[in-house]
Amino acid sequence: MTAQVPAFAMILAAGLGTRMRSPLAKVLHPALGRPLVVWAAKAATEAGLCPVVVVNHQEGAVRAALAGAPCRFARQEAPRGTGDAVRAGMEVIPEDGVVVVMCGDGPLIRAATLRALLQAHGDKLVTVASMILAEPGAYGRLIRDASGAPARIVEAGEATEAERAVQEVNSGIYAFNAAWLRGALQTLRPHPPKDELYLTDVLALAAAEGRAGVLVLDDPAEAMGVNDRAQLAEAARVLQGRVLQAHLEAGVGMEAPESLTVEAEVQLGADAYLERGVVLRGQTTVGAGARIGAYSVITDSALSEGCSVLSHCVLEEARVGAGATVGPFARLRPAADIQNNAKIGNFVEIKKSVVGPGAKVPHLSYVGDATIGAGANIGAGTITCNYDGVFKHRTTIGEGAFIGSNTSLVAPVRVGAGALVGAGSVITTDVPDEAIAVVRGELKLRHGAAGRLRDRKLAEKARRSENA
Ligand code: UD1
Ligand code: CA
Repeated sequence: MTAQVPAFAMILAAGLGTRMRSPLAKVLHPALGRPLVVWAAKAATEAGLCPVVVVNHQEGAVRAALAGAPCRFARQEAPRGTGDAVRAGMEVIPEDGVVVVMCGDGPLIRAATLRALLQAHGDKLVTVASMILAEPGAYGRLIRDASGAPARIVEAGEATEAERAVQEVNSGIYAFNAAWLRGALQTLRPHPPKDELYLTDVLALAAAEGRAGVLVLDDPAEAMGVNDRAQLAEAARVLQGRVLQAHLEAGVGMEAPESLTVEAEVQLGADAYLERGVVLRGQTTVGAGARIGAYSVITDSALSEGCSVLSHCVLEEARVGAGATVGPFARLRPAADIQNNAKIGNFVEIKKSVVGPGAKVPHLSYVGDATIGAGANIGAGTITCNYDGVFKHRTTIGEGAFIGSNTSLVAPVRVGAGALVGAGSVITTDVPDEAIAVVRGELKLRHGAAGRLRDRKLAEKARRSENA
């Protein structure tokens, strides 16, 4: 390896992936919210390699998925086999140095394994990562000579019966001397019936010069390729185990790790605690010491330290401040901003609203397009009527205001600081600071009237059953 030339990792991602039975290109299918090809690229980057992604099918989408990553791209004009794909990739790789070739549908490869491959490679022409499988299936077989040195790779479909019995297979991950590979690729001949060029054919050339090596992978699962939905689910399961293990080691508590979904980009503070069945997706962050209740589903939200989301809540693009409590059974929709020590109770829906520090919305409310001041108390069943059928309007509630139960606040409307709204009111005009507002029909009381009404109805019922 020439030290001053950066090493590249060529990621083959031009295939269709027909066995996924999906309009989405296989390498774009997510495992734990991250597309397969991004997992492969991350492993390469982490190993200090510069990814070169060979694209064709859904090229634009593949490029977009990797937009944040330091990648180069090469285009394979048509899927004419792995040898042809690598030829295309070599066009954006400099003459010298080492190039690792790996598959865009292999999300489980670890950076440490890529580093071990480079270490084993040294100044050989090619080093192939192999694995020993009880059932070698459709993988290419690694054939060794009498001395045990690698000699060639034969695809399962073209192997003799004796070759097919070989349990050491090609993982599809290799390190190459780039300058040598460039020449070796020119010697490839198409294989019928599809006339594909096989990258694997170059191993025999290097072996003939005595400069082919093998790294046998300790964990064959690392080279697992995703070809169908079952393998995608299995890969996601393995990745979830790794992600959770890292969080456990960093001090995150979990009631039942096997029941959790914690996507790849989620950040968890030390001593956060996840109860059974919690689902954390996207760019969610959870502060130190926060507690997430059973079966809550949280997407792209920011939870501060020491807050509590009780069971069965659904949060999306929401913020929850330090020490705040949410739920059980609450729904926070995009731009819900629950500030420090506020309390959102059961069956409450909040959208695009700020709930100020220490304010309370404890039961059965809809709060949309609103600003609620610090320490305000919003009674059970309060509704902000934010939508007039055409436009959305804002509701503002001042600090320390008290809104009685079952109030409708018809926006645009403002309730002042320290104001008090009587239960059952429909508020259509602004309420000044410290004022009391009550809107109610007059109470009518008729003594004994209930009994008289009941007697009339019972008599009517008896008459009807006689006639029937
Ligand atoms: C290949 C190897 C096989 C190895 C296996 C490991 C060859 C000929 N065979 O077989 O020895 O055991 O991988 O998984 O290389 N791709 C392109 N362009 C193409 C063809 C493929 O980009 O024209 C990409 C695919 O998207 C995929 C990768 O190359 O990411 C491997 O291709 P695939 O067709 O799955 O190869 P296998 O038949 O599995
Ligand atoms: Ca494959």
